[in-house]
Amino acid sequence: MAEEKKMFTVTIDNIKVEVEAGTTILMAARKIGGDIVPPTMCFYSKLDKTGGYCRTCLVRVSAGSTADPRPMPKLVASCRTAVMDGMVVENITNPAVLEARKGVVEFLLLNHPLDCPVCDQAGECDLQDLSYEHGKEGTRYEFKRRTFERIDLGPYIQLHMTRCILCYRCVHAANQVAGQREHGVLDRGDHAQIATYIQQSLESPMIGNVIDVCPVGALTDRTFRFKNRVWFTKPVDAHRDCPHCTGNVRLWLRGDDVLRVTARKDQWGEVEEWICNECRFEKKKVSDWTIEGPTRVDRHSVIGAGHYTGIRKPKEIFKEVMDGRDPKLLMDIHTVSDVNKVNLNEIPGPATGATFSGNPKSAGTNITDVKEGVGRNMLGTDSTNPNTP
Ligand code: SF4
Ligand code: SF4
Ligand code: FES
Repeated sequence: MAEEKKMFTVTIDNIKVEVEAGTTILMAARKIGGDIVPPTMCFYSKLDKTGGYCRTCLVRVSAGSTADPRPMPKLVASCRTAVMDGMVVENITNPAVLEARKGVVEFLLLNHPLDCPVCDQAGECDLQDLSYEHGKEGTRYEFKRRTFERIDLGPYIQLHMTRCILCYRCVHAANQVAGQREHGVLDRGDHAQIATYIQQSLESPMIGNVIDVCPVGALTDRTFRFKNRVWFTKPVDAHRDCPHCTGNVRLWLRGDDVLRVTARKDQWGEVEEWICNECRFEKKKVSDWTIEGPTRVDRHSVIGAGHYTGIRKPKEIFKEVMDGRDPKLLMDIHTVSDVNKVNLNEIPGPATGATFSGNPKSAGTNITDVKEGVGRNMLGTDSTNPNTP
């Protein structure tokens, strides 16, 4: 007979929930859902040993358990603290927790450029959301922020440590999903950085997943970088028969161009199924995929804005009221511009002025043209300046 599971009752922000013994406070809160779920920047339920680094998930335990109802003396990281039977937890109902979280955000941003307008992650960035929802409008930090050169980790991934918050997710993903860790955190304290030892490229066929787990714009897809803002692209779910992974992915389309392929993410922003590099980086044609339909974007996000389903187009009445005449166009832009001749998914890097000057296959002289590179990427622009692609 199957062993009966031991269940604990825990109260989070005055809501009771029953969970299995060994569940963390965070996972118990996720079972309830809604605003009372603490934010996370380093925890990732699909990866072992994550959590405990960033402290954004701090909560107050005002009663430890029924057996010992004393409060815990300090705020605890909910992603690493297991519930006890009768535990009482305060998150958004306790102003001290929210104030402490503001402090954590301020710390996370000490060395962060916060250059969202030119960052590839903007619009789908956990740190951006966290700063808006839990941060302060100013910083007390007066010193120069640390900066790093961009590093090309092989042909597909670029690391810009300037934006890294050292959450370790990519290290665990490389260990556990790609099964081949060639990078990690080198040095300590203010010098700590994600690095590949002697800047080797990351060769595993599953290594692209580090891009999806990175909560910020530190690890980016070189086949997509700066080709478009995510909120201009349309996410659809699609699949293909893939010998390496399940082939269930999300395509990010602009018209008929597949600008980006990513794994599908759940309501917590976590990958549902890991996908291989071939699906992610090599299959950039609509004909490579069977489209299932528009992605349902659960998270409050600019990506969700503008992707409506079931829209009814208003009736066009111009001709009717103008006695059958067509509207006069000031200028038909499609006849004078090469914009529609450019296949963004086919050019090797972001479009530049050169792309639209009679050579739609050209990606100009932008640094991301150079896909073969490994190591420091110092071409073209000041690579320690985050405000450049
Ligand atoms: S990673 Fe990019 S989008 Fe996110 S907060 Fe930093 S600069 Fe903004
Ligand atoms: S590169 Fe991204 S995933 Fe890796 S530690 Fe930095 S922030 Fe985390
Ligand atoms: S999410 Fe809990 S410490 Fe980072």
